[in-house]
Amino acid sequence: MDIVEAIKARKSIRKFKSDPVSKTVLTEILATACRAPSAMNSQPWEFVVLGGEILEKVKQANLAKLAAGEIPGSEHTVVGWQRDSAYWNRQVGLAKELFRLMDIGREDKEKRAQWTARGFRYFDAPAAIVIVSDKSLAEVAPLLDLGAVMQTICLAALNYGLGTCIEDQGVMYPSVLREIAGIPESKRIVISIAVGYPDWDFPANRIETTRELLENITTWLGF
Ligand SMILES: Cc1cc2nc3c(=O)[nH]c(=O)nc-3n(C[C@H](O)[C@H](O)[C@H](O)COP(=O)(O)O)c2cc1C
Repeated sequence: MDIVEAIKARKSIRKFKSDPVSKTVLTEILATACRAPSAMNSQPWEFVVLGGEILEKVKQANLAKLAAGEIPGSEHTVVGWQRDSAYWNRQVGLAKELFRLMDIGREDKEKRAQWTARGFRYFDAPAAIVIVSDKSLAEVAPLLDLGAVMQTICLAALNYGLGTCIEDQGVMYPSVLREIAGIPESKRIVISIAVGYPDWDFPANRIETTRELLENITTWLGF
């Protein structure tokens, strides 16, 4: 696949077929993605790849915490967008479009809760990649590098017909991952990526997210 075509084809997949993804394919994806650039070639990333029974246990434990009302949280700084800012409006636009596709009413608390739960079970993906970084590193700077490897994983996955969804939700109960996947306290759990073969019949997978017009976010000088 042509690079530009691949970048444009990547989209977040929020329902996967149950077909497993082989360790060989996941290994090739990660090995390719590690070609991502990083500051001074520091490569501040490590991967914990979950599948089979372990992934199922993580999904169930996440859902149990969610059902018990435990407040989810991230191990890295997350921003809150100011109400009515452009960022806020984009988030609202995304939610509206997903709920429209999924036929979830504004006041339908039960369906909304079911939708939220999907994220905590990695959208039924047969595999999930958790990206962690050593806590001896500063918190913020490696995030640039981790973002590069994260996107490269998603692009490389397309080569194998796989879909992905980058997910904060998948790591918002870090204690679950520490307990079940044995991720030590010395590692910061940053982000997860659900990986699997897309279920194209699922309405939310038909989403076409929009982007701000380039002219609104670009300053040209010297052209
Ligand atoms: C850092 C990060 C965290 C994300 N976390 C979630 C998440 O928890 N749940 C979810 O459904 N999508 C999540 N997404 C996916 C975004 O919603 C998605 O990338 C965005 O809406 C643009 O859509 P696209 O990926 O289909 O182009 C996340 C994306 C990023 C980059």
